[in-house]
Order: sequence, then structure tokens, then C-alpha cells
Amino acid sequence: MRIAITGASGLIGKAAATYFQARGHAVTRVSRQRGRLDLDPVSFQDQDAVIHLAGANIAAQRWSDRYKKLLYSSRVETTTQLCKVLTNMNTPPQILLCASAIGIYGHIEPPAYVDEGLIMGDGFLYKLCVDWEHSTHLAEEMGIRVVHMRFGIVLSPDGGALAKMLPVFKLGLGGRVGLGKQMMSWIALDEIPAAMEHVINTPDLSGAVNFVAPKAVSNAEFTRVLAKALRRPAFLPVPAPAIKVLFGEMGKELLLSGANVIPKRLSESGYVFRYPDLETALSQMFSR
Ligand SMILES: NC(=O)c1ccc[n+]([C@@H]2O[C@H](COP(=O)([O-])OP(=O)(O)OC[C@H]3O[C@@H](n4cnc5c(N)ncnc54)[C@H](OP(=O)(O)O)[C@@H]3O)[C@@H](O)[C@H]2O)c1
Repeated sequence: MRIAITGASGLIGKAAATYFQARGHAVTRVSRQRGRLDLDPVSFQDQDAVIHLAGANIAAQRWSDRYKKLLYSSRVETTTQLCKVLTNMNTPPQILLCASAIGIYGHIEPPAYVDEGLIMGDGFLYKLCVDWEHSTHLAEEMGIRVVHMRFGIVLSPDGGALAKMLPVFKLGLGGRVGLGKQMMSWIALDEIPAAMEHVINTPDLSGAVNFVAPKAVSNAEFTRVLAKALRRPAFLPVPAPAIKVLFGEMGKELLLSGANVIPKRLSESGYVFRYPDLETALSQMFSR
């Protein structure tokens, strides 16, 4: 296959490009030019699949009004523009895999859980994800198969949330966040390219697909498993008010909220997870 990947220098983009290249596919990496995604049609010409991951980093800084505008425009406007480019082509790609996030589900108190069937969120991430997913409607109307990959918390020692936690946990200074009851629906980075390949090879799959492992954990459980994998204590909880002071709205939505998200559509379409539970995922990561 010929596959174009946007946001190719990012955590998921790098992993996807490496995986697909190793499997003999031709990968075109599409990155920014002067701060904006390069939407030159030549990059997307004659591609079988486009994997669209570009967007300003959600957790890079506090969500000022200005940064929220960038988070929004770098996803919603960029995706709209990309779809215009794709639908104007003589031979558009058969499939567009577009990043989204489980932030679309907002906060759900356990033991309730959610699959792709129901969205009940609120808050900034919810609105962002809803508009982001709607921004592909042009491509869908033109008959391109569009899949919205609703990523959970992507776990890798090399970047993203886990890499930020590791220094603190390695010093034995880790702990639960708030009461630790909020659910963390996660996915190992190494799982993602294989799940993307499964989606590409499953023509019946379109629309929202949760990219999460089958077994979400509470934040308290995550803390316990991570500390055990690192053989360190983790008894220093971070109180919720401190999170709100330190990280504002971002802390509330990313750290103090969560949902038990089920990968119903991946599982029902026959995808077999390589890293179904957190112990396996973390021990694999740290044994490398
Ligand atoms: N990692 C997670 O836990 C997670 C969870 C849920 C959803 N997601 C979503 O999945 C997508 C990929 O995630 P990731 O972790 O790989 O993100 P990432 O590491 O932040 O990479 C995103 C890439 O997007 C490009 N980019 C950065 N700022 C941009 C801007 N202002 N406009 C357009 N492009 C920009 C950059 O690639 P170039 O330098 O190549 O242009 C960057 O490397 C993101 O949209 C993210 O929101 C990630």
C-alpha cells in the first residue's frame, strides 16, 4: 500500500511510519511548513490510505483561550482543508484514518462504562472531538471510508503521558491523582499501528472506533501497577486542588476526569490485542 501520514513526527506518527515501512508499504510523511500542515495535493496523490494525526499537542501547556484556539484550528480547520484536498483528487484514497480522542466521552463515574455507541460528554475536549469528527463529512459524502480513531491515553516510555510521569515515579515520589477513582482508558503505543492495519484491512469498519485496551484501570490502580513495574513506592498522592491550581482546565479534564471505554468495534471485528492488560504492557515496555 501507499500510505500518507500527517503529524508524522509525533509520538503515534513515528510509530505508525516505522511499522508500515517495515511491512513493506510506501510511507509519505506529511509535516508542517511554516507552522501549518502542508496540504500540497502532491503528497496525497495516488495514496491508498491517509492517516491523519496532525494537531497541536493537547498537554503541552495550560489551556489559555489562545492555546485552545490553536488546539481547535489545528484539528478542525486542518481536517476540513485536508478533506477538501482529498475530495478534489481524481483518485482519492480509499480510506482516511483520522485521530480523535476518548475525551469525547467526558467523565464517567465507574462502574459505568461506554463504547462507541453513546456520547454524553461535556467540556472543552468533548466539543473539540465532536467538531473534529464532523469535520470529515465532506470526505464521507464523497465515498471515502473514514474511521475516527478515538485514542485512549497512549502509553510509551518515549513520549506522551507515561514519559511525563516516569521521572517522578522513578524517584519513588509517584502517587494517585485526586482520589484516584477516575478511570484511565489506555493503549500501548506499539498496539496502535497493528490496530490501524486491522482497520484498513476490515472494509466494513467505518466511523468511530475506540483505540483503547480492553481493560481500563482506575488512576489508583494505574499508580499501583506502574510503581510495581518500576519497583518503587508510590505513596504521595497529588490532591485535586493542587492539580487545578497547577494545570487549570487541562488538569481537570485530562487528569481528574476519565471514563471506562470499551474497544467494542475492534474486538467485535476480530482484532486480537497484543497488550490487553496494563501489567503486560508495562512489563514489555520496561524490559526493552
Ligand atoms: N498521545 C495520546 O495519548 C493521544 C490521546 C488521544 C488522542 N491523541 C491524538 O492523536 C494525534 C496524534 O497524537 P500524538 O501523541 O502523536 O501527538 P504529538 O506527539 O503531539 O504529535 C502531533 C504532531 O502534529 C503536528 N503538529 C504539531 N503542532 C501542529 C499544529 N499547530 N498544526 C498542525 N500540526 C501540528 C506535529 O507533526 P509535524 O512536526 O510532523 O508537523 C506533531 O508531531 C493528536 O491529534 C492527538 O490529539 C493522542
